[in-house]
Amino acid sequence: MVEVGPNIEELLMEHRQLVQAIEQTKEILRQPRPDVSSELSHGWGVTMARQLTQLHDHVSRHFHSEEHSDFLEDLSPKRPHVARSIETLQQDHVRILGDLQAIQESARIYASGIEPDEPQLRRRTLAVLERIAHHEHAETELLQRALYEDRGNAD
Ligand SMILES: [Fe+2]
Repeated sequence: MVEVGPNIEELLMEHRQLVQAIEQTKEILRQPRPDVSSELSHGWGVTMARQLTQLHDHVSRHFHSEEHSDFLEDLSPKRPHVARSIETLQQDHVRILGDLQAIQESARIYASGIEPDEPQLRRRTLAVLERIAHHEHAETELLQRALYEDRGNAD
């Protein structure tokens, strides 16, 4: 049987779920990070590392599903002027997954009670979350435009 990738509506649904997962992670980040010498620091680090692992897996599954959908490939030849933004969005996937892995590693080091190399873990994590949200927003706009045109509303 031929594997069929997700359609535009399914990708839009995945985007909504991902936005929720990002918000959930931000909620944990709103709590101040305990000092590394405090008893609470281990729990904070473990919760953060677990949340980042779940988020990484979620994002990774979503990117994989997007890359195996026809949407990106279909859109490029039809609309050459958006081909460049599609290319940038695809390059973002590699960068975002790398960033998520790096902060996951820092959170794990923090959870083990060793000061992470990166003292700005919360700020850095928030910056990565903003980047993912921004990326997904740009993709959502492309998907919605493609859906609109699919329904015969192309100008
Ligand atoms: Fe996406």
